[in-house]
Amino acid sequence: MNKTVLTAIIVVIAMLGFTYAAVELAGGVDKLIKDGDLVNILAIIGAVIIVTVTSFVVTKYVRQMQNDKVSGTLSEESWGGIREYNNELPMGWAVAFLGTILFFIWYLLIGFPVNSYSQIGEYNEAAKKYDQKFVEQFKNADEKTLIEMGEASFMVNCAPCHGLQADGMDGKSADLHQRISEKSVKHVILNGSNNNILGTGMMMPDRNGLVNMTTSAPITDAEIDAVAKYVAGNLKGSVGADVFAGTCASCHGADGKGLDMVGPNIAEMSPALVDMVLHSGKKGAIGQMPAFKNFNDVQYKALDAYVSSLSKK
Ligand code: HEC
Ligand code: HEC
Repeated sequence: MNKTVLTAIIVVIAMLGFTYAAVELAGGVDKLIKDGDLVNILAIIGAVIIVTVTSFVVTKYVRQMQNDKVSGTLSEESWGGIREYNNELPMGWAVAFLGTILFFIWYLLIGFPVNSYSQIGEYNEAAKKYDQKFVEQFKNADEKTLIEMGEASFMVNCAPCHGLQADGMDGKSADLHQRISEKSVKHVILNGSNNNILGTGMMMPDRNGLVNMTTSAPITDAEIDAVAKYVAGNLKGSVGADVFAGTCASCHGADGKGLDMVGPNIAEMSPALVDMVLHSGKKGAIGQMPAFKNFNDVQYKALDAYVSSLSKK
């Protein structure tokens, strides 16, 4: 018998022997059948088929390489003495080549963007479903629960910038225990503000747009200093109170607690304000507060409750 065929038969027998040994180690075929272990039974059948077919195919080609004689005409070109035969393109190759082009066009236009499965998509769906369950469970949570929840979320999402104590880490971001600092009020008056704090896109004009309603005069540097102290001091005291009444109250209300659609609350940190800052972000004297878009309703409510509770005395 031919040596190649003999080798193939030995390899097949050895491989089948290994397969058998592996199955015996796992408890034997009887056990698999008794357990109804369909997946492993199919795997064994597959293994036997693959071993046998591979050996046949390999043997066929090895023999062909041993026995085939070249035929056909040589091409004109010669690369340093090496020349190629002018073989016809095998039909299978041509079909496969055209097939990949057609598949590419189909995949690009139809297969990929539409109806395609993605792991990220599946994860997002699962997270969304879980979020809904969470929102449902806590939608009527009381204030205490929300504040606790908000504190936990704050430690993860906000503390890296605002500090564990939410005191702004020496001015690197806003101190959340007070509504606003003197520096920030001045910055807003000098530069205006456009942070969508009201949710209406209403902007705060800069100093050129601010006029004292009682005296009709533009705001002076001394007045800016005074009113900034007044606002940062929770609108208490007399210094700056007249400037506030004349220049700011028309938009922010006489008590600074804001007027609907006109000016935001600048007297205290309210849940509504924190909520807007979380949704829109905020750019001010210190820098840029990023917007957070991926919390669910309960998480927003919890953070709003926690942050606004910090400034309550
Ligand atoms: C024409 C109406 C108007 C007037 C007058 C006005 N403001 Fe404002 N102010 C706004 C609006 C609107 C915003 C919100 C801007 C935003 O979304 O960023 C705002 C924002 C602010 C903020 C920022 C709040 C924050 O959370 O960042 C401060 C502080 C402030 N105003 C102080 C003042 C002071 C002090 C005066 C008077 C000198 C004044 N404003 C006059 C309309 C006004
Ligand atoms: C990348 C850093 C960073 C992170 C993270 C961050 N903040 Fe801020 N935050 C800032 C900065 C900077 C400011 C000040 C913006 C300015 O200059 O007025 C600010 C301002 C604020 C304000 C406005 C305070 C005021 O009186 O105007 C609130 C409210 C706030 N952050 C809440 C949060 C909450 C809640 C989180 C977590 C979900 C958070 N921040 C996460 C940087 C951050």
